[in-house]
Amino acid sequence: MPTLFWTGKISLPLRIMINMGSIIAWVTGNARNTSAMKEKMKNGYDGKYSDYIHKYDEMGLSHYAEISKKLIEKVDCSGKEIVDIGCGTGILSLISLEKGAAKITCVDMSKLMLDKCKKKIIAAGYNDDVISFHEADAERLPFADNTYDVVLLNMVLGMVPNQQATLIELTRVLRPGGCIALSSHGPAHYMEAIESLIKTINMRYFSGHRFEFWPRDENELKNFFMNSGLNNIHTERLTWRDEFKSGSEAFDFFASTSGLWWNHRLPPEIRDKETEKTRAYFQSKNVTGITSDVVLAFGSLSK
Ligand SMILES: C[S@@+](CC[C@H](N)C(=O)[O-])C[C@H]1O[C@@H](n2cnc3c(N)ncnc32)[C@H](O)[C@@H]1O
Repeated sequence: MPTLFWTGKISLPLRIMINMGSIIAWVTGNARNTSAMKEKMKNGYDGKYSDYIHKYDEMGLSHYAEISKKLIEKVDCSGKEIVDIGCGTGILSLISLEKGAAKITCVDMSKLMLDKCKKKIIAAGYNDDVISFHEADAERLPFADNTYDVVLLNMVLGMVPNQQATLIELTRVLRPGGCIALSSHGPAHYMEAIESLIKTINMRYFSGHRFEFWPRDENELKNFFMNSGLNNIHTERLTWRDEFKSGSEAFDFFASTSGLWWNHRLPPEIRDKETEKTRAYFQSKNVTGITSDVVLAFGSLSK
């Protein structure tokens, strides 16, 4: 059963509204339907709700590359067999290959993201001997126990409904002596964008569902690691604010890196209109700064 009460940083009335939605979702059973939550996320990244996702690298490459570099500088990649879960367009996988990884397995549940990743990594000159691609869910990996020296997860955990179960699954595929390194959304991540989104979305379609985005703080991540049997646990927090030229540009960054998964609940004929309404709000309220709150977490499995 995924957690019910949302603890991200947001104004009190909106937090109450999100949590009321969760309570209704629990009563109706929606809160336990984790397959439906994952399907929405997958569809968002598959571009089923908007074309914004095709601008993922254009708008988000430097953001994710920055986080990837901070994460990977603590990991010894040399000669290691690595799996990058929720690889997206392959930003972290490429950096790991450049750092001497022997083999990388790229996993994402979105076919579109995986195809973009494949194209980019093959264009960079890597072949089947060092790289493979799997369309799969982080919570059900198609790999045997003890397969990898390193498991990586860059900005994915906040989008997964069963976070503890996912950490246990990541640990299952880790070899004794291996390590998990992840970055995740902290409580204040994208807080201005989320606040603006929730203020503009059409509540008629949104009440009664568990929110799909679940930021976590350092202690919560440490507990997930401990409960998965990992040792040498260590966390770090990075926070900064990106300034965009206009509110519209800030919205475009937010939309391109999220795939607008929340549009799932809207009838298809009004999705574009609703998206434009939110974008116009960002512009008129001058929402030009977006906070990044990233928690890095590391843990290893005893030999
Ligand atoms: C914010 S993007 C991060 C992508 C990439 N790690 C990066 O740093 O650019 C989140 C990615 O996680 C993938 N994802 C979300 N939930 C997943 C799950 N349960 N299993 C596998 N992939 C998932 C999405 O499809 C998307 O590609």
